[in-house]
Amino acid sequence: MTHPTTASTIRWEQDDDGVVTLVLDDPDQSANTMNAAFIDSLDAIADRVEAERDAIRGIIVTSAKKTFFAGGDLNDLIQVGPGQAQEIYDKNLRIKRALRRIETLGKPVVAAINGAALGGGLEIALACHHRIALDAPGARIGFPEVTLGLLPGSGGVARTVRLLGVTDALLKWLLQGTRYSPLRAQEAGLVDDVVTTREELLTRARAFIAAHPESAQPWDDKDYRIPGGTPAQPKFAVNLPAFPANLRKQLNGAPYPAQRNILAAAVEGSQVDFETAQIIEARYFTELVVGQTAKNMIQAFFFDLQAVNSGANRPQGIEPSQVRKVAVLGAGMMGAGIAFACAKAGIEVVLKDVSVEAAAKGKAYSEELLAKALAKGRTTEAKRDQLLARITPTADPRDLEGCDAVIEAVFEDPALKHKVFQEIEGIVAPDALLCSNTSTLPITLLAEGVQRADDFIGLHFFSPVDKMPLVEIIKGEHTGDKALARAFDLVRQIGKTPIVVNDSRGFFTSRVIGHFLNEGVAMVGEGIDPASVEQAAAQAGYPAKVLSLMDELTLTLPRKIREETRRATVEAGGEWRPHPADAVIDRMVEEFGRPGRSGGAGFYDYDETTGKRTGLWPGLREHFAPGGSGGSGGAGGSGGSGGAAREGTRIPLEDMKERMLFCEAIDTVRLLEEGVLTSVADANIGSILGIGFPGWTGGVLQYINGYEGGVAGFVARARQLEAAYGERFAPPALLVEKAERGERFTD
Ligand code: NAI
Repeated sequence: MTHPTTASTIRWEQDDDGVVTLVLDDPDQSANTMNAAFIDSLDAIADRVEAERDAIRGIIVTSAKKTFFAGGDLNDLIQVGPGQAQEIYDKNLRIKRALRRIETLGKPVVAAINGAALGGGLEIALACHHRIALDAPGARIGFPEVTLGLLPGSGGVARTVRLLGVTDALLKWLLQGTRYSPLRAQEAGLVDDVVTTREELLTRARAFIAAHPESAQPWDDKDYRIPGGTPAQPKFAVNLPAFPANLRKQLNGAPYPAQRNILAAAVEGSQVDFETAQIIEARYFTELVVGQTAKNMIQAFFFDLQAVNSGANRPQGIEPSQVRKVAVLGAGMMGAGIAFACAKAGIEVVLKDVSVEAAAKGKAYSEELLAKALAKGRTTEAKRDQLLARITPTADPRDLEGCDAVIEAVFEDPALKHKVFQEIEGIVAPDALLCSNTSTLPITLLAEGVQRADDFIGLHFFSPVDKMPLVEIIKGEHTGDKALARAFDLVRQIGKTPIVVNDSRGFFTSRVIGHFLNEGVAMVGEGIDPASVEQAAAQAGYPAKVLSLMDELTLTLPRKIREETRRATVEAGGEWRPHPADAVIDRMVEEFGRPGRSGGAGFYDYDETTGKRTGLWPGLREHFAPGGSGGSGGAGGSGGSGGAAREGTRIPLEDMKERMLFCEAIDTVRLLEEGVLTSVADANIGSILGIGFPGWTGGVLQYINGYEGGVAGFVARARQLEAAYGERFAPPALLVEKAERGERFTD
């Protein structure tokens, strides 16, 4: 017999054996979150378990929803103002106190994790003495807080550190935001047991209660030591003074505020008792919640990502579609990756190149990826064989019969692209979706080579395709809504995130990343120490350093793109404005014979045998220092000119960082003005997931919104940069208008 009692979002069910099941079940939402109603319920539950302690044998915490518990209420968190710090801190301690009262009741408490337990959900589970997870499809367990600029503030840091030790807690759980399957969560140490049915979940929970009548948390034993302790350092596993520095190295550059605060909460909290650790955690949590970075990241990684993936940009009223068999034309680097991504999603792939050998080489790429996955236990032999069986390499266009989509990835040459489409258009299904993976060529131009321009669309993948989550969909002038909807569905079918833009040379991503690269190169041309330029990119939060990225892409590529863009601009009657980087790139290629990594030399030197980077080319300082040999050193005019020969120009680090961030943000606004971009969410998500715009900003337009002083503050700073470094920083009209009206960039 059960005696249900309500405490609005947590149901109390008690059986005749005295086992209380606390069922998380928010009546107003599809998932349980840490909203105000939940906090009230938790307090009420803590009161009741204490009052009825003697009649309780044990407690099971589970949920009536599909997920166990979804975490913090992001709608609330994104609105918190800087004046609310005390309120946030008090609320946080209230949650902690209530969980602690249940945890220290002296009765066994078991988490029966029936679905996803992310963030707050995992924290509730950690406040229990034993965690059993149901291996349900899609059930994920982890702390995604760091990806939202937050830290697990409901005891998550303090408890994970105590269970696993500082190093494992930070690296496996807190700093990466990894979402584990229940089995992997068990391997990584935060889940005790995994079951496959709901019944078993509850049976095992009861069995634990029966076997541990006086269960408590290990850290409430006075002799408990945090794992990894050594006799010399009884409580701490790692070399404390060196730890933050090592971690900084591992994170490749400057940690974001969330990473910094998680690190500090974990390390400081490990040196004190549990209650003090919780207070330390609350302070660091509060600081993040009231700060701007968390708002940026919640906006991008929760709200914008949801908008983009749910199809805010997919034309309405068109039936959902699925691709069954795809033709991938060109089995080079991109074609091979696209073939793998499609086959992984269960799509039959015909991979065509000029010879069967070339096509087979493309398929071999999937074999390599799968061999690695197998070695790491991420796939099985059976799954590997099934995936490989889906890829048919060929040189014969007739093998493309029946394909309902085509993705072309041959060389970046419009005539060749026209030719390969002509060759296959009559063979594939008569209504096949026709996609090009061009990275720069206008889609409308490429569509001239096909009969059905309304079915032709750009599908711009990023390299390496298996890792990069974004696909930029480009609508040509004649692309129909149906093709757009089908392209969107195809991208979702292969599990990637689609953004949609209108046609233009370089679209959104290729054009904007070009500004970042050019800005780094221009600084070298001004005589700024190239090592500082690389450091500035890392400090700004870019995942790749600017000159090393330029070398990877090769210096010949921007020259080619520049020439094509210049010709097209002039032909269209526009004014062509050279960039200060142009002269540097030209000299690197023509004068010094350094075209980038594939040519064995670029901004960096490379080892002749291994091809590995050995260091920045010393000639950069010599040839590009103000007063150095020839060329146009000092272009951009920051006051660098006039410096002593080979002394190098110095500008503030903040200027270097902001020159990179601003040039990308400013051109994105121009793309909005030009109608290439039509959605703020697409711009934010595309910039982070596609071209490495730093995640802490929340994306390229959120960076403007969140800049100190808002859009007006951004405009004022752009004008300063314009005066110091050139007209490319002049704020576009749309930006100035927004600033004057006090508006932000929103959809
Ligand atoms: P790649 O040079 O590695 O591969 C091109 C492949 O096309 C080669 O295997 C070549 O044999 C094949 N090919 C040439 N003529 C052919 C024909 N008539 N029929 C079938 N196959 C033919 O080039 P990559 O890097 O894979 O680039 C391909 C396309 O993807 C280009 O349009 C490029 O702009 C675009 N792209 C490249 C990215 C990158 O990071 N490399 C990123 C996004 C797009």
